Amino acid sequence: MEIEISSCKHLMYVHEIQQEMYDSAQRRGTGIAKRSLEYLSKKISEGNAVVATQNGKWAGFCYIETWSHGQFVANSGLIVSPEFRNGGVATLIKKKVFKLSREKYPDAKIFGLTTGLAVMKINSELGYKPVIYSELTQDEDFWNGCKSCVNYEILMKKERKNCLCTAMLFVPEIHTTKAAEKVQPKNEYNEEKSRLSI
Ligand SMILES: CC(C)(COP(=O)(O)OP(=O)(O)OC[C@H]1O[C@@H](n2cnc3c(N)ncnc32)[C@H](O)[C@@H]1OP(=O)(O)O)[C@@H](O)C(=O)NCCC(=O)NCCS
Repeated sequence: MEIEISSCKHLMYVHEIQQEMYDSAQRRGTGIAKRSLEYLSKKISEGNAVVATQNGKWAGFCYIETWSHGQFVANSGLIVSPEFRNGGVATLIKKKVFKLSREKYPDAKIFGLTTGLAVMKINSELGYKPVIYSELTQDEDFWNGCKSCVNYEILMKKERKNCLCTAMLFVPEIHTTKAAEKVQPKNEYNEEKSRLSI
């Protein structure tokens, strides 16, 4: 199995990827933000995706999206060809696309919305934590992507605070360190020491 950062050589798989994304969503009874061939092709040719193949056969795919001017990154559109499922392909793809996201956007928070147990498991292993939706990007363009989901009405009724998807977030150290500094209790002993010039 080859798990590679995408390039123009993978454009030959774009129709199959789009079709499988659509068919899987139909089977699951969920809606997804329909990605055009142009959109997916751009992701592939610009190296913003990961493609899995075996002996020249397409096996899986996932791509990177950025929101809130690069403050947030999502690894979206994860799909494994039915004949390659349950063999760890999604795990390998997610690891690779996560690493690529960290290299390209080291300061960004990485998030995902999912109803799938497989994705929840993989995300947890990568260090994502479940969060409420207010912790995610508030970029309108991201939330507009939910419009094609069958549960969009629920999301709107809940004022975009929650819905059927579990939100998961990976926060890079730069953010956790800053947050920790903010709540750091004052070290009165050290202050006392410096006042007394010990
Ligand atoms: C979800 C999907 C990507 C998983 O791909 P996969 O290659 O079969 O996943 P993996 O083999 O890497 O499995 C990862 C983990 O999830 C578990 N898993 C896989 N499919 C599962 C399922 N349908 N239900 C529950 N757990 C599942 C595996 O057992 C494994 O767990 P483990 O690490 O404890 O052994 C694939 O089934 C798919 O493309 N589905 C349709 C599209 C989709 O749902 N995409 C996700 C959108 S958020």
